[in-house]
Amino acid sequence: MVDIRFPGDAGAVEAVADALREGKLAVLPTETVYGLAADATNPRAVAALYAAKGRPSFNPLIAHVDSLEMAQTCGIFSDLAAQLANRFWPGPLTLVVLQARDCPVAALATSGLDTIAIRLPSHPVMREVVRALGRPVVAPSANLSGRLTATRLEDALADLGETIAIAVDDGACRLGIESTIVACTGGSAKLLRPGALAPEEIEAVAGRLETAGSGDALTPQAPGMLSSHYAPHARVRLNALDAGSNDAFVDFGGYYIQLAGRVKAYADLSPEGDINEAAACLFETLRRVDAATPSTIAVARIPNSGLGIAINDRLRRAAAPRPD
Ligand code: TXA
Ligand code: MG
Repeated sequence: MVDIRFPGDAGAVEAVADALREGKLAVLPTETVYGLAADATNPRAVAALYAAKGRPSFNPLIAHVDSLEMAQTCGIFSDLAAQLANRFWPGPLTLVVLQARDCPVAALATSGLDTIAIRLPSHPVMREVVRALGRPVVAPSANLSGRLTATRLEDALADLGETIAIAVDDGACRLGIESTIVACTGGSAKLLRPGALAPEEIEAVAGRLETAGSGDALTPQAPGMLSSHYAPHARVRLNALDAGSNDAFVDFGGYYIQLAGRVKAYADLSPEGDINEAAACLFETLRRVDAATPSTIAVARIPNSGLGIAINDRLRRAAAPRPD
C-alpha cells in the first residue's frame, strides 16, 4: 500500500524525507509534472528508480536542489549559468552544467557523463523534502519510461503502483509540462528540451539559443534512440483536419467542434485558444482520450510559439514510429 499524504499535513515532509533516507521511492508533485523521487546520493535507490520506471540507464536524471548553494555542490556554474539560475530559479528551468569535483550525486544518475542536469523547483513540497533530506533528490517524471507523463497522482500510481513507498497528492500540476532544459557548460546556452519556460523568455537573458538535433536531450551518447516517447497506446496523427468515427480528436481553439458527436472521443486543449492552458492539460487530455481506446488520436495543428514549442515537441515524439 502506498502511504498517501497531502501538502500541509503535519509530518508529511518528514515522512517523505525519512522514506528517501531509507532508500525508498516517493512520488511528489512539482509545478511542472509529478516526479518519481529518490535520494540522489544513494546508488541503490537510484538503481531501484531506473528499474521502477523501466528506464534505460544511459538516460540520465535531473537532480533537484533547494538552493543555489546545493546546486553548486553538484555543478560548476559559468557566469551565464548563474545568471539564468538567478533569473529563473525557483521555477521550470533545468540547467545542464559540468559536474563539480566532489559532486555527491551517484554516477548512475548521471549515466557516467561529466555533466549534470540540475533544477530548483518552485513547488514547496519538493523543495521542503530536499531541505529536510539535506541532499539532492533525483526525480524523473513519474510515469513508465516512454509513456505519457503523469500530471496527476492517480496517473503516476497507475503506472508505478507497488514500487512506491509514499506519495504526496496535490491534484493536477499547475504547469502540466516538463521543465525546459538548457545546457550551459560554457559561455553560450543550448536548448536541449523545450518545456514549461518559453524559449523566448530565456533568450531575453541568454541571447539566441542554439538548438540541439532531435534526440540529443534524451540520450547525449545515442541521439535519436528515444525519439519515440510520451506514447499513448493509440497511434497519434498530427495536424489533423478530420477524423473517423473510431478515432479520437484533440482540438485547439474549438476549430473542429463539429466533430464532437462524430468521433469516439473529442477533447479541446483550450477552447479559448490559450496556449498555456493547452500545455497544462496536454498529458491529462491524451491519457483521457487514449482510455476510450480509439484506433488513432488525431490532433489539430497547434501554434508553434511560446509553450506551443514544447507541446509540439511532445506531440512529435508521441507520433514518432515506435521501436516495437
Ligand atoms: O519538469 C521536469 O523536469 C520533471 C520534474 C519531475 O522535475 N522531470 C523530468 O525528468 O522531466 P525526466 O527524467 O523525465 O527528463 C529529464 C531529461 C531527460 O530527457 C534526460 O535525458 C535529460 O533530462 N538529461 C538529464 N541529464 C542530462 C545531461 N547531463 N545532459 C543532457 N540531458 C540530460
Ligand atoms: Mg519524462
